[in-house]
Amino acid sequence: MINLFLIGIGTGNPKHLTVEGRLAIAEADLFLIPHKGNDKSDLADLRTQIIADIRSDANIVSFDMPVRDAAGPYIDCVNAWHKAISNIWSEAIANHPNAIRIALLVWGDPSLYDSSIRIAALLNPVPKLTVIPGITSIQALTAAHGISLNTLNAPVTISTGRQLRDHGWPLNTETLVVMLDGTCAFQELDGADYDIWWGAYLGMKEQVLEAGNLSETTPRIIERRGVSKSSHGWIMDIYLLRKRSI
Ligand SMILES: C[S@@+](CC[C@H](N)C(=O)[O-])C[C@H]1O[C@@H](n2cnc3c(N)ncnc32)[C@H](O)[C@@H]1O
Repeated sequence: MINLFLIGIGTGNPKHLTVEGRLAIAEADLFLIPHKGNDKSDLADLRTQIIADIRSDANIVSFDMPVRDAAGPYIDCVNAWHKAISNIWSEAIANHPNAIRIALLVWGDPSLYDSSIRIAALLNPVPKLTVIPGITSIQALTAAHGISLNTLNAPVTISTGRQLRDHGWPLNTETLVVMLDGTCAFQELDGADYDIWWGAYLGMKEQVLEAGNLSETTPRIIERRGVSKSSHGWIMDIYLLRKRSI
């Protein structure tokens, strides 16, 4: 039976890879590596570099990610996109009948805003799944700033830029972590009421950090985000917001 390994690789620093992840890479028969498109080709390069550092005989299939249709309802488009990706994985697996241990290197951790686990469930036949945890961008953010994720005995909400933009600050929330935000949705908030800890390219040599009261920090983040994005061609950033009193 096929065993599909989803290996969390952390957020861009090859040293984030766990010993368990290294072992799984050392023993895999086949790697599936997505091309991210030209602007994010350094992300695909990092995956191949991580594999090359561990072994020189890796059997790698690179595939182009299908383009997600943006025309229909969001969830329908995402489901169709996942199905298209699972078809590509199925074909690559079928083309390598001797490969039993198939590995995908997943950015951060496979459980956090990543669909690899859902896509794996669409494969036919459904493989045995082994998930190897990785350092998440949330951990990379809190570690870079030297802060705790939660305040004493309090919950944390994890959400997206889209949710913050469309629905505002979530009810009964003191700490909000926002991911996948291409439009600086924090601008919708009344900055005086919040503190922010922001980071981009966490774990990578390009890492940039900003922290402070939201109203004072917002112009700096927007400026640094714009400059970084135009020099690298892409950006990944994340932030933690804390409401001053709820
Ligand atoms: C598709 S999600 C993947 C999350 C990943 N599975 C994890 O465990 O962090 C991509 C989002 O994660 C965040 N992210 C991932 N890597 C990052 C990094 N190195 N620096 C800053 N944010 C990052 C950004 O919010 C980005 O939009």
